[in-house]
Formats: sequence, C-alpha cells, structure tokens
Amino acid sequence: METPPSVVAISGSLRETSTTCLALEHALDGAEEAGAATELIDLREWDLPLFDPDDRDRGDAAALRQVVGDADAVLLGTPVYHGMVSSTLKNAFDYLGRDEFENTTVGLLATAGGGSYAPTLEHLRTGIRTVHGWALPHEVGIPGAYDAFDDGEFVDPDLEARVRKLGRMAAENVRTGSE
Ligand SMILES: Cc1cc2nc3c(=O)[nH]c(=O)nc-3n(C[C@H](O)[C@H](O)[C@H](O)COP(=O)(O)O)c2cc1C
Repeated sequence: METPPSVVAISGSLRETSTTCLALEHALDGAEEAGAATELIDLREWDLPLFDPDDRDRGDAAALRQVVGDADAVLLGTPVYHGMVSSTLKNAFDYLGRDEFENTTVGLLATAGGGSYAPTLEHLRTGIRTVHGWALPHEVGIPGAYDAFDDGEFVDPDLEARVRKLGRMAAENVRTGSE
C-alpha cells in the first residue's frame, strides 16, 4: 500500500483560544479527507526560545526541523499582527530554512481581527519563496476572526469550505520529484 502524504500545520498564536489554531484543525480535516496523515504543531506546546543565529539548536529546534523536514506539505497559520506575521510564527520559521522547505508544498492561512490580511499572506509567500517552498495559489484569510467560530465550528460554511480546501489541496499537490 502507498504511504499517505504527510501534512503538518504550524499555528503561530500562543493565545489560549486561538482562532488560527482552530482554523488549521479544520484545514487538517480537509487534508485527512484527501487521504493525508496529519499533525498539528501548536507552538504553545513547543520550547522555542527567541532565535539566536549563534545557537540554532536551542529547545525543541531539532525536533521542529525533523517534523517539518519530513513533511510532504506544510500549512502555515498566523494571526495578523500589525499587518504582519506574528512573532511566534516568525520565530519558529527562523529555525527552519531551505533544508526543510525545498520541494515542500505549502498552504498559507491568516486570521485577522479586522478585515485586512493580504499583506500578511504576502509576507508568508515571500518567506516560502525564499526557502524554495512551493506555496499553493489557494490561500485563506479569515477576517473578523473573533466572530468566525461558534463552539469551535465555522459560522460561515463558505469560509469553512475554503479552509478545508487548503488542506485538501496541500495533500493532493505534494511534490514527487526532487526538483
Ligand atoms: C499584537 C497584535 C496586533 C494585531 N494587529 C492586527 C492588525 O494589524 N490587523 C487586524 O486585523 N488584527 C490585528 N490583531 C488581531 C488579530 O489578528 C486577531 O485577533 C487574530 O485572529 C488572532 O489570532 P488568534 O485567535 O489565533 O490568536 C492584532 C492582535 C494583536 C495581539
């Protein structure tokens, strides 16, 4: 039997009731439906001190590199912080690089308290291009994120469909060659 593709999602919010984390769980459901094995990296549970280029192996850095490096596809989720990526996700990303992302399919998701998430998704896309990842054209921004969920479920079924599609597309578009 063929090994299922692996899809790993990294959630870049430390907030207890994080909407980014919730949204990524739904995206991973979509990936599972497409036959993938999935894992959520909830950075609330990871020990990743502020990245220091003189000491790149602190805390759980090696484990993070291992999990992301082994993944066929990665979903990156971040809250919009001042129009940018959260420091939490950026810090984790700085521990990673081309070794982990080259030849990896990447899906991008951002949650915003307001309505503007495009620049944040662009920042993520730029980062992924820089480490030679393959960002999917389909991406998801969630405006008004505080009101987007009711008891863990999406209020708007169209938005839920977009999020699940992100996971599904990641699973269905893993790279097979080495170039
Ligand atoms: C430091 C900080 C900066 C923020 N900046 C913005 C912003 O520029 N635009 C916006 O729409 N929301 C902004 N927000 C709101 C978050 O994007 C929003 O609450 C997001 O959904 C939080 O994700 P989480 O639920 O996963 O923590 C900010 C929140 C914080 C804490």
